[in-house]
Amino acid sequence: MSRELETLNVGELLARWPFAEQHLSDNGHAEIADRPEASLKAILDCEQLAALDGFVGMMEDFLGASEEKVTEITITGGRAKDGSDEPVRELTARVGDVICIVGPTGSGKSRLLADIEWVARGDTPTGRHVTINGQVPDDKWRFSSEFKLVAQLSQNMNFVMDLTVEEFLALHAESRQASEPEEKIQRIWNWANGLAGEPFTLDTPVTSLSGGQSRALMIADTAVLSASPVVLIDEIENAGIDRQQALDILIKEEKIVLMATHDPILALMGDRRVIINNGAMQKVIEPSAAERANLTELRALDAKLMGLRHRLRMGERLDEI
Ligand SMILES: Nc1ncnc2c1ncn2[C@@H]1O[C@H](COP(=O)(O)OP(=O)(O)OP(=O)(O)O)[C@@H](O)[C@H]1O
Ligand SMILES: [Mg+2]
Repeated sequence: MSRELETLNVGELLARWPFAEQHLSDNGHAEIADRPEASLKAILDCEQLAALDGFVGMMEDFLGASEEKVTEITITGGRAKDGSDEPVRELTARVGDVICIVGPTGSGKSRLLADIEWVARGDTPTGRHVTINGQVPDDKWRFSSEFKLVAQLSQNMNFVMDLTVEEFLALHAESRQASEPEEKIQRIWNWANGLAGEPFTLDTPVTSLSGGQSRALMIADTAVLSASPVVLIDEIENAGIDRQQALDILIKEEKIVLMATHDPILALMGDRRVIINNGAMQKVIEPSAAERANLTELRALDAKLMGLRHRLRMGERLDEI
């Protein structure tokens, strides 16, 4: 039995998997929580133990409860589109890193993100390999929803549920068995409102959030509630949200962030940037001191553009800029 439940007592079982109480009570073991010292082996027969194990496994899959801490991922180079060796042979990203991926349209930025998401093992068009914490990863990273390596922030969130923001977050917090769910819900909502231009309330239905608002909510939600250690972002710039704050939030929550971008501000904000061409990582560079200094000027330019955009939205003329 994979979890060796027969070696545990009731207290140990419920400490680790609190939801097991309901299952046991549904199966004729009411008030079992009152006997924490009782050994499971004494209480349950083989069949019941197997059923409990199956239930715990199913719940873990559903909850996405990952216990293994991912501290770094490494991408080993494969081949370019023309079959030649990829110049960058190894790229390691650690918790707290923001790695930007830049390159012309069609050069292979999204492909690199997809290789990471799929935990490539030489079995994608690029022939790359991805290792986790320096090890060839277990199959669980590919096939089990319990161990999801990557949280993808896609451009379009399709909320199918008819819930308010608060209900949506509460559901997510509950399914993740988050501690202090109220505090987390407040934090996500606050952050999301900081990222989106137009504020929304906790009782706004998720289906009526704008594109930028739902994206802001997903970023904050991913930062706080997702078990996935790696966040992949493809083209955040079109989302109409505060990009710098979005990155800050993800870093604060100890994520490894890889982001494909055409935006010079975002590219210079990264710790490193990977230059992609011809389907291959050509080189990895760190922003220079001069580039960092230029960031201030770029932000001023960006703020100016944002201001113009705002005025345009408010129906003003831009005769004076
Ligand atoms: N090393 C490679 N070998 C073979 N095919 C590749 C390789 N790298 C990328 N490709 C393929 O090239 C195509 C374009 O790549 P991709 O979509 O990643 O480009 P992109 O840089 O994201 O472009 P955009 O900026 O337009 O989003 C895809 O079909 C991708 O699978
Ligand atoms: Mg792309």
